[in-house]
Amino acid sequence: MFKNTQDNQQLNVDNIPAHVAIIMDGNGRWAQKRHLPRIAGHKRGMETVKTITKVASDIGVKVLTLYAFSTENWKRPHDEVSYLMGLPVKFFNDFVPDLIKNNVQVRVMGLIDQLPAQTQKAVNDAVKDTADCTGMILNFALNYGSRLDMTMAVQKIGRQVKAGILDPNKITDQTIDDNLMTSFLGQLADPDLLIRTSGEERISNFLLWQIAYSELVFTDVLWPDFDKSVFEQMILEYQHRDRRFGGIKTSK
Ligand code: IPE
Ligand code: IPE
Ligand code: MG
Repeated sequence: MFKNTQDNQQLNVDNIPAHVAIIMDGNGRWAQKRHLPRIAGHKRGMETVKTITKVASDIGVKVLTLYAFSTENWKRPHDEVSYLMGLPVKFFNDFVPDLIKNNVQVRVMGLIDQLPAQTQKAVNDAVKDTADCTGMILNFALNYGSRLDMTMAVQKIGRQVKAGILDPNKITDQTIDDNLMTSFLGQLADPDLLIRTSGEERISNFLLWQIAYSELVFTDVLWPDFDKSVFEQMILEYQHRDRRFGGIKTSK
């Protein structure tokens, strides 16, 4: 079945990527282009998150994972980091009623207990307040790094081996999946589509294990300018890909 996009193209509603992950990049450059402080870009980027959450949920995405703050982003100037830490408070204050109305469940992954107390509270409250929602999962990667995720998984597995409850010869892909921060997503842990905005074409320590067979799509559009139309273009691009998973070309 097909649905018209905003630009009158045909979106196949039977081939929507179940898990879309986005590296939301370009807020700083968006602001600099306008001679504004970088934080103005982050503020505007937060509005894009609201728009894209609604669009993704409407077209039937099941999990939307957004890279909001990396374990490396602490290197930024103090003022920028503290603005970024305040954003979840503003975001969830404004947006939780809409999320509930749209049946969207909030989840977070990353080292949440290293965040300032009011950020932790905002995030944990949003998770609690939307816990009964059964629609799309809006999963924020916050103070997340994939090497950290994998390191912690190895530590957990190591502890199970040491305790004698896991035989090292029985460690499989599934054991690793089960110990990563995405484990709560079960079968949906691996993104079908990974998007990065702003023209950068790198992964920046995001979901390294989980993107083994994801389709990667890049756009020059800066995150604050990203909108429904660009998002739909990227879904269309995904729908034109032939996912082979190491097999041979399938006929469509
Ligand atoms: C993405 O935008 C937001 C975060 C990383 C928190 P940037 O702040 O990285 O924007 P650029 O890349 O400097 O333009
Ligand atoms: C990646 O963007 C992290 C987030 C979007 C949260 P960065 O802007 O931090 O990545 P690099 O430094 O360009 O690789
Ligand atoms: Mg950046």
